[in-house]
Amino acid sequence: MAKPQNRYVCQECGAAHPRWQGRCEACGAWNSIVEELPRETSPRGLDAGKGKALAFSRLDGAAPQIPRRVSGIVEFDRVCGGGLVPASAVLVGGDPGIGKSTLLLQVIARLAGEARVAYISGEEAIDQVRMRAARMGLTSAPVELAAATSIRDILTSLDVPEGPEVVVIDSIQTMYVDTLDSAPGTVAQVRAAAQELIRAAKRRGSIVLLVGHVTKEGQIAGPRVLEHMVDTVLYFEGERGHQFRILRAVKNRFGPTDEIGVFEMTDRGLMEIGNPSALFLSERERAVSGSAVFAGMEGTRPMLVEIQALLAPSSLATPRRAVVGWDSARLAMVLAVLEARCGLALIGRDVYLNVAGGLRIAEPAADLAVAAALASSHMDMPVAADTVVFGEIGLSGEVRPVNHMDQRLKEAAKLGFSHAIVPPRPRKGGRARQGAALGVGGMRLTEVGRLHELLALFEGGEAGLADNRDSARRAPSRV
Ligand code: TYD
Ligand code: MG
Repeated sequence: MAKPQNRYVCQECGAAHPRWQGRCEACGAWNSIVEELPRETSPRGLDAGKGKALAFSRLDGAAPQIPRRVSGIVEFDRVCGGGLVPASAVLVGGDPGIGKSTLLLQVIARLAGEARVAYISGEEAIDQVRMRAARMGLTSAPVELAAATSIRDILTSLDVPEGPEVVVIDSIQTMYVDTLDSAPGTVAQVRAAAQELIRAAKRRGSIVLLVGHVTKEGQIAGPRVLEHMVDTVLYFEGERGHQFRILRAVKNRFGPTDEIGVFEMTDRGLMEIGNPSALFLSERERAVSGSAVFAGMEGTRPMLVEIQALLAPSSLATPRRAVVGWDSARLAMVLAVLEARCGLALIGRDVYLNVAGGLRIAEPAADLAVAAALASSHMDMPVAADTVVFGEIGLSGEVRPVNHMDQRLKEAAKLGFSHAIVPPRPRKGGRARQGAALGVGGMRLTEVGRLHELLALFEGGEAGLADNRDSARRAPSRV
């Protein structure tokens, strides 16, 4: 029988190579290839009949009610799907310094009242964690604190009858398993350490919260495999210069993944922001050109954000398209529709688009607000200050309905807006009506079926005042 060969397997994509190399040819990742010893396999494969027969059951069996541990930090609990689930593993990723340690210390201190909890720091000394806790006024919470990096020591301490029910490991990149030769932070170590911790959590029915650092490319450092191993992946993100921090679920076996939690970093730790719309709009200058307020949805929650656009003459052969907080492919599409269907001359113009406040929007419903901000900048005419905009744009220039229209309007009305530019609402037995109507909360609605109708609103002087013809006519037209 031929001698089994060692294989060299890329930890990013799983491609196998006959020898070690610095870069995986299959996926292009650097330093991702690790030697794997051949497994002892019998030439006939596994013997059927020697295993234990599985006990199958049916889908219609009683689904157990998942008991959840609720921290009382509403923004955190919502992102987790209503609290932490026992016997589960949660990975919290984010840039260094964004506030992961702060968040998890706050969460665990709140849980300490009703569960046995432990915080294991591999990065900071105990005194540093204490100082942070003192700053946030959490010193009285009964949190068991330790500075350790050896998984063997950690498991020995956790795996006792009265061991903690919730454990924070800060961070997984500092932990090591002493049966492996590689250094902490390498793919093999991170994977082995996480595997041991998760296995222990599942066996003991406890919750393990792993902190994971993020690479420059924005992925949790080391292996993507970590994301497959845990039940929930949360990203903590925010702009450096901003106080806002956003916790986002990107994977959740026990809840939805489109929820976000909004926090503000203060000198006494993270504060919850129950009404993010008010915060995101608080810095808005009223009625300047190039700005439109988008009534969006983040998970189950409506959220108003300002979208800013700037069109400037370009000195480059290929004008710049710079986007912060939105999808650049989506921007290219909206620009193309504005040019091709509405005749907006964008050649030779740099385009900058920014979602104010550091939020990242993924909804197609933002298309119309983006188009309004772009058109407003192009024509140097403001969108009326009392106006919100939402709607999806199709390639032929049509404006499509979006979901949760009433919730969006309600939120806008709550924050003092009185007018909305919206897609046409489907009506029974007839075509969609054009022009103004009244919607939820007494909001005046201007329905636009096609993108050029949005541009026509600017022709009166200020988009949003189109049906208020008297004032519109008095306003000087600058188109
Ligand atoms: P930290 O939680 O240590 O970040 P991470 O664990 O993600 O690396 O947060 C560090 C930053 O937060 C640091 O720049 C200081 C700031 N901070 C405050 O502004 N207020 C506070 O109360 C605390 C604890 C930290
Ligand atoms: Mg930290």
